[in-house]
Amino acid sequence: MGIEESVSSHYGAGNVLQLLLGIVAASGGNPDSFSPANLRGADQLHIGGPAATTRVATRAGIRAGSRVLELGSGMGGVSRHLASDFGASVHGIDLTPEFVQTARTITERTGLSGQVTFSQGSILALPFEDDSFDAALMVHVGMNIQDKDTAFAEAARVLRPGSVFAVYDVMLVGGDLETYPLPWAATPDTSFPQPPLAYSDALAQAGFLVDHEAKPLAEGIEFLERAAASGRPAGVDAAAFSNLLAAFRAGVLAPVEIYAHLP
Ligand SMILES: C[S@@+](CC[C@H](N)C(=O)[O-])C[C@H]1O[C@@H](n2cnc3c(N)ncnc32)[C@H](O)[C@@H]1O
Repeated sequence: MGIEESVSSHYGAGNVLQLLLGIVAASGGNPDSFSPANLRGADQLHIGGPAATTRVATRAGIRAGSRVLELGSGMGGVSRHLASDFGASVHGIDLTPEFVQTARTITERTGLSGQVTFSQGSILALPFEDDSFDAALMVHVGMNIQDKDTAFAEAARVLRPGSVFAVYDVMLVGGDLETYPLPWAATPDTSFPQPPLAYSDALAQAGFLVDHEAKPLAEGIEFLERAAASGRPAGVDAAAFSNLLAAFRAGVLAPVEIYAHLP
């Protein structure tokens, strides 16, 4: 099995839509037509959930009318958030067919299909024309991407000159990563976390100018501790979750945001 096939089978559990609709029902919503708030952030698979999305989108300057590409859009929670809270028009692309189908269904049932669309595919070969978007976000995807040079070159190709590219990933900040499973991979075969410097180098090679970097480690640890106490995100393995928290506390991994733009 190749990397992309393994990654896609890691994420596609077969019951993602039912889990999300169960959360909507438990919050008192109608599963056929509901507000994104009924999902309580369960459709956003990253450290910090919706609060982190608001922070990253604000720092990236996403605004009404922005035409945004989300690389690795998962269940579509980030893309919908950019549309509902920032007024952006968003296209998400993701490898995992079950996530893309779930993203489309949830988007339709939250009334956002006019602003948010999805494709199934790889960020290593984007099915879009050059200069198609004016901003891009990649949130917690790079840990599964071995060839970041190609991913960032593709992002640069489809973005217009002057566009912002915000990357928010779990990165390697010290020592060696030895303990698996982690939330994005059961084994090292599909796990490629890298230091922030490797990201900056790959971004520069693709033609981006790196503007700013942030490492919200304390918030990340607090988020994981709170989630561990109140129930992990649906579908995330308990051992993977506690290994990630241990790696944060040990200073091996950290959530890192990098903001760059095309000249
Ligand atoms: C941890 S989830 C994050 C999803 C979303 N960005 C969010 O924050 O909710 C990682 C996603 O990256 C996707 N992914 C991994 N490698 C990919 C690739 N080469 N092309 C497109 N999507 C990919 C996976 O299918 C998965 O949905």
